[in-house]
Order: sequence, then structure tokens, then C-alpha cells
Amino acid sequence: MNMTSNEHNFDVNLIRKDFPVLDTKVRDKPLVYFDNAASSLTPEPVLERINQYYHSERSNIHRGVHLLSQLATEAYDGAREKVQNFINAKHVHEIVFTSGTTESINLAAYSMRDWQAGDEVIVSQMEHHSNIVPWQLLADEKGIVLKVIDITEEGELKLDSFEALITKQTKLLSIAHVSNALGTINPVQDFIELAHKHDIPVLLDGAQSAPHMPIDVQALDCEFYAFSAHKLCGPTGVGVLYGKEALLNEMKPWKGGGDMILSVSFSGTTYNEIPYKFEAGTPNIAGVIGLGAAIDYLQNIGLQTIADYEAELIRYAHEKLQIPGLACIGTAANKAAVFSFTLEGMHPHDIGTMLDLKGIAIRAGHHCAQPLMEFYGISATARASFAFYNTKAEIDFLAEQIPLIQEVFA
Ligand code: ALA
Repeated sequence: MNMTSNEHNFDVNLIRKDFPVLDTKVRDKPLVYFDNAASSLTPEPVLERINQYYHSERSNIHRGVHLLSQLATEAYDGAREKVQNFINAKHVHEIVFTSGTTESINLAAYSMRDWQAGDEVIVSQMEHHSNIVPWQLLADEKGIVLKVIDITEEGELKLDSFEALITKQTKLLSIAHVSNALGTINPVQDFIELAHKHDIPVLLDGAQSAPHMPIDVQALDCEFYAFSAHKLCGPTGVGVLYGKEALLNEMKPWKGGGDMILSVSFSGTTYNEIPYKFEAGTPNIAGVIGLGAAIDYLQNIGLQTIADYEAELIRYAHEKLQIPGLACIGTAANKAAVFSFTLEGMHPHDIGTMLDLKGIAIRAGHHCAQPLMEFYGISATARASFAFYNTKAEIDFLAEQIPLIQEVFA
């Protein structure tokens, strides 16, 4: 695999050395990891930073005057500053740590307002279940109404469909920045601008955008932005909800316990300030510190460099994977490095199993986006999703293997 990007000093072969798992064999074949939209791999510096916490800083945060607790607290709070810088939030207290994008969206759904029957939330046809089900829970409990923006056959959001759904009852627009199942990069600026003309706040599901492009929440001007560490080379079980200061201040806490209070008595409790108000209990300290290290790692490469390199990978995949019997699902003009496809006469699970035998890891299924599958009249796709440590040679290998597995099912 001999592919070097021209961008800056980006050398994919050097980068690959940082990811120990890329050296392993699966089923006696070199691993080709194309399941990055589900979870990315973890580079050595992130593993080392997590180890350092467990080896020499292991203690609780915000609770001890002893040295270890001070070190852990410094590392944890320092990671919040790294996240602030990563997404260019105005204030560090606008960064709330959660267990992942799903929890971030649930937090916002539960806390963002005192929902009334008839309040409307607008999502889109291409949402992940984590940006559908929290609103359905509110529909059941509070009587809110969920409305859905149409998409085109190519998998692009229709701005006029959004406009037609807006009413005086619309209280939130909540959409994916990048579709996990199609790879579409949505023109969220246009949607935010239109939403704001109607005083509608906007939540962006950034699970698939934060790892792959520079993010500037102040330039986007979204009210909320949610993402996960494990898709950006960090550990599992950690995520972020960014929220504008004024909104977070107005929101009610959603979990009670230690750290989220200023004082507790049986006559009443006063809550801590943001972001602590939303972080009850001992958090995922090692995870947050690992997220900070992952951000350092990605920023060292450069998010624009990553975006440019991955844009070339997806362009190349579209060129190389023009194979008879293969249908690409999701052909938007502006796409992240996700290639979803079906093969005539084969179930996507069989595609996934056959490719696994060749050492190629992809995801096959509905990708937690069943309404989107329904739109395309299919139950599942096979999905190859790329990261900056993948190569064109790996895509060539996938392109060679597909006709071979088609033969088995011919
Ligand atoms: N949301 C993740 C995916 O798309 C799990 O695979």
C-alpha cells in the first residue's frame, strides 16, 4: 500500500504505523478496516495517554486536595478546553461531557425546554435512530409533534420541504450534519439560516462530521452540536453536547447526584453552574482525557488535511466501484467518505460476511436509519466507510473482491 497524499506532509504510511490494529491479521488476511462510520481505530498516543491516567494519575476529579486528584482534574478540565478549541466554541462552559452523541441528543431533548403538547420538532428522513427516538419519547410523554424533511433520490435534504413544515409551533430543527448511512454532507448553513429567520433553534448531530472536517460552531451558529469520541480516534463511552451558553443556563438538569450541585439539604438543593449542572456523578475520566488526546492527534494532522484526503478517497471509490450489479445508495454531490451499496441478488449481510473472509471489515445492515432504508425500498445496505488511515490500494482490493463474491452468488 503505497499511497502518499500531496497535502502538506501527510504520509498515510507513516500515519498507519500509529494504529497497531492495522498490523493485525483477521482470518489470516491483512485487515482492511472500512467500518469507520461505526467506530474509528485508536492511535498509540491516545492509548498511551489513557494508560498514563490509569498508571500514574488514577483518582477522582473535583473531589480531592491530594496530588493525584489534582493531576486528574487538570487533565479532565484541560480536555474540555481542547474540545472548546476543536469546535471553536466561544466559552469552555458550553462543552458538556456525555457518554456519546446519543446521550447528548437525549440530554438536549429532555432538558431544552418545558415541552407542551403541540410543540413541533423537525428532523429529516435521513436521521440516525438517535435523532428520531428521543423525540418520539417526547411525543409519547408530552404530546409533541415530529415532522420530517423530505430528501431527494440522491440523498440530499430538500430546503423547501423544511420551509413548508415550519409553523408557529416549531420549537427545534434537529438534523444530521453528515448522514451516517449515505455520507451526504448536508448544507446545514442554509437550514440554520432559514430556521433562525423563524427563531427556531437548531441541533446538529455531528457524529459523522466532527471526525472528518473542521468544525466551527460559532460560524455555523447552531444552538447545539453533538458528537462522540469513539468516531474520532478516541475511546468509547464519551461524547460532547455543545450548547450556546444562554440556552444551557436556561435548561434544567437531567440527572441528579454529585458534582451537579452547589449545596444539598432536605429543604432544597441548588444546582451547580454549567457545564457541571449536566454532569452528575463520577464521569468517564479516562475517556474524557483520551478524547483530549485524540483531538491533539487529529489537530496535529489537521482537520482540513483529513477532509481533503478523505474527499479523494471517496472520489476514487466512486470511480473504482462502478461494477455491474452494484448499486450505490447515496449519490449526493457533496459527500463524506461513506460508500453504501447493494449487490444484485445478495443480501448485504452476506456481502459483509464474504468480505470479512477476505479481511475487509464493513458494516451491513440498516445503520440505525430504518426510515431512510424504507425511503429507498430496501432493508439494508453494505457500507464501506473510510478514514484518513485508509488507502487507495485498500479500495482497489475491495473493488477486486466484489466481482469474486458476486460469482459465488451467481
Ligand atoms: N452510528 C454508527 C454507524 O453508523 C454506529 O454505524
